Amino acid sequence: MSSTEQIQTLSSADLALARAFPKNFVWGAATAAYQIEGATQEDGREPSIWDMFAAIPGKVHQGDNGAIANNHYHLMQEDVELMSRLGLGGYRFSIAWPRIIPQGRGAVNAAGLDFYDRLVDTLLTKGITPFATLYHWDLPLALHQEGGWTNRDTAYAYADYAEIVARRLGDRVAGWMTLNEPWCSAYLGYGIGIHAPGEQDLQQAIDAGHHLLLAHGLALPRLRANSAPNASVGISLNFTPIYPADERAETLRDAERADLFVNRWFIEPLARGQYPGGLFAALEVEPPPVQAGDLELIGAPIDFLGVNNYTRDVVRGGTTPARADESIKVGPVPGACYTEMGWEIYPQALTDLLIRLHREYGMQALYIMENGAAFKDSWDGGDQVHDPRRVAYMQEYIGALASALEQGAPVRGYFVWSLMDNFEWAEGYAKRFGIVYVDYQTQRRIIKDSGLWYSALLEAWRANTVL
Ligand code: FCB
Repeated sequence: MSSTEQIQTLSSADLALARAFPKNFVWGAATAAYQIEGATQEDGREPSIWDMFAAIPGKVHQGDNGAIANNHYHLMQEDVELMSRLGLGGYRFSIAWPRIIPQGRGAVNAAGLDFYDRLVDTLLTKGITPFATLYHWDLPLALHQEGGWTNRDTAYAYADYAEIVARRLGDRVAGWMTLNEPWCSAYLGYGIGIHAPGEQDLQQAIDAGHHLLLAHGLALPRLRANSAPNASVGISLNFTPIYPADERAETLRDAERADLFVNRWFIEPLARGQYPGGLFAALEVEPPPVQAGDLELIGAPIDFLGVNNYTRDVVRGGTTPARADESIKVGPVPGACYTEMGWEIYPQALTDLLIRLHREYGMQALYIMENGAAFKDSWDGGDQVHDPRRVAYMQEYIGALASALEQGAPVRGYFVWSLMDNFEWAEGYAKRFGIVYVDYQTQRRIIKDSGLWYSALLEAWRANTVL
C-alpha cells in the first residue's frame, strides 16, 4: 500500500487529521483468539466456555461457532503479511488460555506457546509491535466446571497462566492487557447469559467481576517480573458514555445510576482501589466476597488503560429509580445514525470519555484498544469491497480522538476493531467489523475501502512525522 495514488485519495481534511497525531503514536488493528483462530481441536487445545456455549442451540446466531473461524491459526503468516501491506504499526491479539494450559491449571502445552511465539516473531520481522491480551473471554472449560469466575481459585490459576506466557513472550511483547472487558465477561456471561458461560444471576456477575479484577491484580507483578523493562502492563475496559435525554431530576438520577453500572464498576477499583459507592445497592445485590488485601492488588498502578468504545447510550428517567442495569434507553435518537449492531454513531462520546478518564481517574496513558463498526458489506467476487459508511465512521472517530489529544488527553495509540471480519460472539458471522473482508467459503481476504483509507492515512502520517 505504498503508492502515492492512495495518499491522493485522502481529502484535505484527512491530511490534516494525519498531521494531528504525534510521531510515536501507535496505529494498529485488533482481533481476539476465539474470533479468528479456528483450529479449536488441534495441537492440544482443549475446549473453552465459548466452545461449550456456542454448541447450545439458540445461543449463537445460526448456530455459528469458532471451530474454523478465519483459520488464522494456519494462515497466520499471510495475515501478518496483510497487516504489513496495510502499514500497521501495532497489532493487538489475544492468547487462548486453553491452548497454553488446556485444563486451566497444571500441564503446559508447548505447541500453544510455540504458536504465539511464532506470531510475535513474525510481527517483529515486519516491524509491527505486538500488544497481547491474556484473556479475551475463552476460559478453559475445565475451570468452568469448578465454578469459573465465580470461584476465587480461578484468579490464582489465571495468574499462573499469565506468568507462564510472560516467561515465554515477555522479552518481545510491548504491551500486555491482563483482561479484555471484564464487564462483559461478568455481566453478559454471568448476569444475563447472552455470552458464555450463559449464567443468569446478577449476584454471580458481581462475584465473577471481583475475581476477574483479582486475577488482574495478581497477574500484574508477575507480568512485570517476567517482561522486558520497557514493556507496559494494562487492561482493556469497555465504556459506553451515558447522556441524559433531558434535564429532569429523575433523568439525571437514572443516567447517573446507569453510568455507575456501565462505566464505573471496573475503573474505580482499578484507579482508586475501591468499588464506587452505591453500586451494589443500585443493582440490588450484595457486595462481592472481597478479602483483605484484594483491593490493594487491584488498585496497583497500571502503565496504561486500554479503552474500548463504539457508541453511547441516552437515558431517560422513569418515575421510580430503575435498577442500575435496567435504565430506560432512548432509541432511536432522532436524526442519529446507527451501525448494524444498532449502536449509535456518536464520536463526541469518545472525546468526552478520554478527557474524563484523564481528568477524573488520573489515567496517564490511554490506548484506544477497540473502536469500529459493523455494516452490511457485500463482495462481488472481485478485488474491492466498498464500505463508505465504515470509512466515514473511522474518519469521525479518529477526528474525535484528535480533539481529545488536543485537549490534553494522553492518548498513545489507536487499534481499529477489527483487522478482519470474524466470529462476532452471539452474533456469529453475521456482523462484519473488519477493515478486511473475509470470504468464509474460501478464506480469501479482500481489503475493504476502509482498509485502503486507513492505510493511506497511516502513510500520510508517516510522511509527516519523518519531516
Ligand atoms: C467488544 C469485544 C470484541 C468485539 C467487539 C465488537 O465488546 O471485545 O471482541 O466483539 O466488541
